[in-house]
Amino acid sequence: MIDQVAAARDAALARVAVVSSMAELRAIDAELLGKKGPFAAFKTRLGALPTVEEKKAAGQAVNEATHAVGAAIDARRAELAAAERVVQLEAERLDLTEVQARPSRGHAHIITQAWERLEDVFIGLGFQIAEGPEVETDFYNFEALNMPPSHPARGEWDTLFVESDPPGSVLLRTHTSPVQIRVMQTLPPPIYMVMPGRVFRRDTPDATHMPVFHQIEGLVIDRDITLADLAGTIEAFTKAFFGGEFTSRLRPSYFPFTEPSAEFDIRTPSGQWLELGGCGMVHPNVLRAGGLDPEEWSGFAFGFGIDRMAKERHAVSDLREMFTNDIRFLEQF
Ligand code: FA5
Repeated sequence: MIDQVAAARDAALARVAVVSSMAELRAIDAELLGKKGPFAAFKTRLGALPTVEEKKAAGQAVNEATHAVGAAIDARRAELAAAERVVQLEAERLDLTEVQARPSRGHAHIITQAWERLEDVFIGLGFQIAEGPEVETDFYNFEALNMPPSHPARGEWDTLFVESDPPGSVLLRTHTSPVQIRVMQTLPPPIYMVMPGRVFRRDTPDATHMPVFHQIEGLVIDRDITLADLAGTIEAFTKAFFGGEFTSRLRPSYFPFTEPSAEFDIRTPSGQWLELGGCGMVHPNVLRAGGLDPEEWSGFAFGFGIDRMAKERHAVSDLREMFTNDIRFLEQF
């Protein structure tokens, strides 16, 4: 039997030496050293040997052979793992000396360009810039803007709510108007502030709507501010942003947080009117929510869609083009 064990060991070692993959090695390991393998079979045959000495000698030979095969398998496993690592490193190697074509120079997205230009124009008109959080509370997005829980105008802002306790108290802001309240609560008047930012609505994407878009809010609070100041500011802005051949008009409208309220349209050189945003005189309840006395202070506010302005400025036919990030589109601006 000792000779048979030696022959089985040599055969096993020869097989292990030529294994070329981890999967193959795992299979051979199970086959040779498992319960149904040759060495397990030798062990069961030990009991049938006639003398104690023979049992002892054969048992020792089986144990040594099993250990030798086990050690060879371990050694082969280490070799294969090292070889696999080399292959992987080679595959992931970054050749820093590789010669590349000259990288093309990128530029800001057209919405970022419009955002920055709007800030420049308003800074030129004497405004400062503020920003507010994108995740807002019901209080700032609605209630402080003269929209109590039962107010029908809340339905106009298709709101995306964030899981919160109580439900409905935290949301993704539907407009930049809540920043008006935050600014009034933080700074003493006079206030001449614009507040650009990203807003969210459950709108279905189409040529003029996106569920995530950008607005720029304006807020002026001072003594004796009138609707004429609002109209003059909007006209000055229109000419500065779009060019001298554009004009603006205010069209009566309704917003709960301004009274009176208007839509702001611009007239393109081709005579077409386009709606860009809402505006109006800040409602006394909004001044109160911001901690100001409406008897002492008055003001106006406006909110424009930045995406639609970029769309008009660059004559893009469909808002969705700006968000699909096709490099052939983006490179044009
Ligand atoms: C408002 O959001 C008011 N907060 C504006 C306002 C501010 C009025 C201050 C009075 C005082 P409105 O829902 O109309 O209003 O949106 C303002 C502008 O955002 C629109 O005129 C349009 O230019 C843009 N806008 C609205 N929805 C979308 C949309 N889904 N995708 C792209 N732009 C949009």
